[in-house]
This record gives sequence, C-alpha cells and structure tokens, in this order.
Amino acid sequence: MKIGILTAGGDCPGLNAVIRGFAKYVYNQIPNAEIIGIQDGYRGLISGEFSKLKESDFSGILNIGGTILGTSRQPFKQMKVEDQNGESRLDQMVKNYKKNKLDLLVTLGGAGTHKTASLLSDAGCNVIGLPKTIDNDIWGTDVTFGFHTALEIDTECIDRIHTTAASHGRTMLIEIMGNKVGWLTLYAGIAGGADIILIPEIPYDPDEVCNMVTKRYESGKAFTIIAIAEGAMSKKEAAMKKAERLEYRNGEATATNRLARYIQENAGVETRTVIPGHIQRGGNPSPYDRLLSTELGSFAGKLVQEGNFGKTVAIINNQITYNRLSDVAGKTKYVDEDNQMIKIGRSIGISFGDGKKFKGI
Ligand code: F6P
Repeated sequence: MKIGILTAGGDCPGLNAVIRGFAKYVYNQIPNAEIIGIQDGYRGLISGEFSKLKESDFSGILNIGGTILGTSRQPFKQMKVEDQNGESRLDQMVKNYKKNKLDLLVTLGGAGTHKTASLLSDAGCNVIGLPKTIDNDIWGTDVTFGFHTALEIDTECIDRIHTTAASHGRTMLIEIMGNKVGWLTLYAGIAGGADIILIPEIPYDPDEVCNMVTKRYESGKAFTIIAIAEGAMSKKEAAMKKAERLEYRNGEATATNRLARYIQENAGVETRTVIPGHIQRGGNPSPYDRLLSTELGSFAGKLVQEGNFGKTVAIINNQITYNRLSDVAGKTKYVDEDNQMIKIGRSIGISFGDGKKFKGI
C-alpha cells in the first residue's frame, strides 16, 4: 500500500506528533505499507514533489513543533481555475496522485484543507483528513490538535500582562489569533482572567467597552485586561461589507489599535496593545496535544487499514470517530451565543462588549 501524506495551511504544534502516530500505526499494523511525504502541502501535490520516507524519519518528532513535511497556503478558490492548457490545480493533483500510484492520501489541515480534500475525494482519490488548527473551528469535531497548546501560550501571555497591567494601572488589549472565530480568545480570556472578551461572533460597542473600563476604575481597579480576537469587530464594522470595512480601517488589519485609542481618549486611561502573533503557533506541543495527536494519527491508520476513505477524523464527546469529508467541507464551527463558556463568563461579570446581561447558565 502506497500512502501519500501532506500538511497544509497554517502550521501548529502537534502536526509532527500526528504524522508520527499515523506512521507508527502503519508500520506496526499494515504489512508492506510505504509512506510518501509530499512537500509543502497541496503545493507539492500540484508540482509532484514526493519523497519516500523511512521508518526512522518518524522518530524523535513527537515533541517538535512545525511540520517535517513543510506547509503552504493554496487558496481553495484557485483549485478549479484552468491554466492556458485547460488544466486546473485539481487536475494536476489527481494526475500526480495517479502517476505516483498512490493508494491513498492523508491530509492534515484546517477548513480550507478539508474543502480541497473533499474535492480530491470526489475526483476519485482515496483521502483521509485530520483536523488541525489553533483556531478550533473545524465543524464536526469538539477539538482540533494545536488548539490546547496555543491556549496555554495565550493564557501565559495574559498572566504575564496581568502583572505589568496591575503595576502601571493600564488597560491592556491582547490580540489573539482567530480571524473568523473566537474559540481561542474565549478560552484564553477565561483561563487568563480577562475582564473583557471580544470575539468575531459577538460584535462590540466601543462605548460598552469604555463603560466597563471606567466602572472598574471607579471601583478601585485601575487596570483592565481585554482579550480581543484578531477578527473582532465593532457593531458599526459588522454592518459593513468587507471592502468598506477595509477602507474604514485605513491600513490597520485588525480593530485592536483603533479600540485602544478609543479607550484611551474616552475612558481617559493609559492603554497598550500586545500582539503575540505567530508565537501562538510555534514551539512544542503540550502533553495534551501530544496525546490527542497520537490518538488522531493512530485512528487515521485504523481507517486506512479498514479502507474507510473519504473521511476525516474527529473527537465527539471524548470519543474518537470520523465524519464524511463532504459533510465537513465548507462548514465552520463558530462560537454561538449559547456557548457554556460565554454564559459562565457573563455569570462572573466578564463583559463581551455587547452590553448583554447574564440570563442564567
Ligand atoms: O492557522 C490559523 C491562523 O492561525 C489564524 O488564526 C490566523 O488568522 C492565520 O492563521 C494567520 O495566518 P498566516 O500564518 O498565513 O499569517
């Protein structure tokens, strides 16, 4: 059995641990299987950059961040666009899959990767997906690998900001990754004891944010911690079309600095912003992510053994299982207003910037 494997989209801690868990299952349980590494995600599948891996290539990588296979972002929108010869990237990928006589392809990636994986599956390739992303936004799984490690990094970041914010009596905004979804910001905000949590799913009113800062100041708490997702937006921005919003932001990619200035001017407190950025995606996976990755990787090996293709591995209610790729493709798992952590946040006085009150857990 000839198995191609690739990692696509933004990297995260745990990719190598999944690759290792999968490979170890394969070498231990499936006789005569060989694993072919595909370089830099779908880019390598398009251009045909394949290399046969040895069993020893998978040793010593459990705790190493990044990916031994390399990765890249290949926009889904361009997959079916034909070149001057009438050939699309999808055609090239299917051609390389066949030319290299692959029996199946294992793809580790996020929402975009799953959409392309589903296309490949529809085009006749045997595909198994694995849910990667620090954003935790893949539909059909309770958790993705990489999320918990990023959560630890962000929580430590908020902890550290807490002490300096308290010393100086400042309002500090910590911008956390998550362009479309606020899972990481919500969880890190609660774990780090943030006073205000702003996520893309709940547009904020800047005056509500200022009110909270002022209220804290008047009650003797000079400092305020705001966990803000990179995709957070004010109610005014949420009502705009994307292009209009970009123009309104006037060169600033996120709302964070605008809000910081607004707070400083309107609440009259000294304000700073902190952007941990790609630190959130770098470094070693946490023990939790190593366990999860090993579990997901070995389960993908089991699916291979059973010939159960066109699936993506998932964890639902602590049980390892799978979804059909076609069911997951194109869907996003958002934080909804009834999320338990939102309710718990409101119950302990955290503001989500929308002025809504706690209505029960
Ligand atoms: O992996 C997802 C993500 O971390 C998002 O939260 C973030 O918006 C994006 O990747 C950043 O991507 P890039 O590494 O391409 O700048």
